[in-house]
Amino acid sequence: MSLPTYAPALEKTSAPHSPVGVFDSGVGGLSILQALQRQLPHESFVYLADSGFAPYGERDEAFVLQRARSVLQTLLQQNQIKALVIACNTATALAIHVLRQEFPALPIFGVEPAIKPAALLSHTRRIGVMATAGTLGSAKFQELHRSLQDQAEFVLQACDGLADAIEQQWQQSDHHTVIKLCRKYLDAMGEFGSATHQIDTVVLGCTHYPFAKPWIQALLGPHVSLVDTGEPVARRVAQVLEDEGLLAGLDHTPTLQLLATGETRNLQSAAKAWLQSSQPVSKV
Ligand code: DGL
Repeated sequence: MSLPTYAPALEKTSAPHSPVGVFDSGVGGLSILQALQRQLPHESFVYLADSGFAPYGERDEAFVLQRARSVLQTLLQQNQIKALVIACNTATALAIHVLRQEFPALPIFGVEPAIKPAALLSHTRRIGVMATAGTLGSAKFQELHRSLQDQAEFVLQACDGLADAIEQQWQQSDHHTVIKLCRKYLDAMGEFGSATHQIDTVVLGCTHYPFAKPWIQALLGPHVSLVDTGEPVARRVAQVLEDEGLLAGLDHTPTLQLLATGETRNLQSAAKAWLQSSQPVSKV
């Protein structure tokens, strides 16, 4: 991730006590919000699930960019956010460069598949990358991949339908579809384990996938490492907010707002399970 370019000052109504905006196509970004809340316990957050337009993973670039822009405008106008975390690999890959140009005064953070940390971790130098087709097909990811190609072999797997199945499992308690898809995509990637020709590290390159971690780990066995991005991104957000004088004061009472553009029940259930929050979800 490269550092965002900042305008000299944030001309706006937001202030250090304003919330940080976090968004994803659905519940996946809660895996990032969880890490943000741990790292920044005094901050207020507003989380928006773009459930009316999900999933993003198999949509084209113009669609994802238009959705990301519209979500950002909503969060700026209605919630006066002081920073935005795009808690979605697909939207980061396809839209962050444009949004940073269009909103130069706003700190905008993104997430990308953690293939750099994975290359440091892997002993066999064979690394699996699970992500959406949109992320893997993006110029941003391809550039990152090229830059690390001499360090390890990356087995790239587009997991069509997996984010959506994870989204739906909150209502239907249908873990069966999630497990079936995980098995299908892991089988397609090859052999896992710690022998030289085997994949010993798997990158969860979509923010929905950490919610399937127990099943993925069970299918892979205990000797394969799973890598995701929540904590490093949260540390980075904390550092930049501090550098920019944008951290909420220690006396600030943190709040959490939950918004959705479409159906609200998935976010309601997921927030309860993952953030222990019973905050009602508002439709925007
Ligand atoms: N959670 C998202 C990501 O990290 C998007 C999944 C989707 O909407 O397909 O890519």
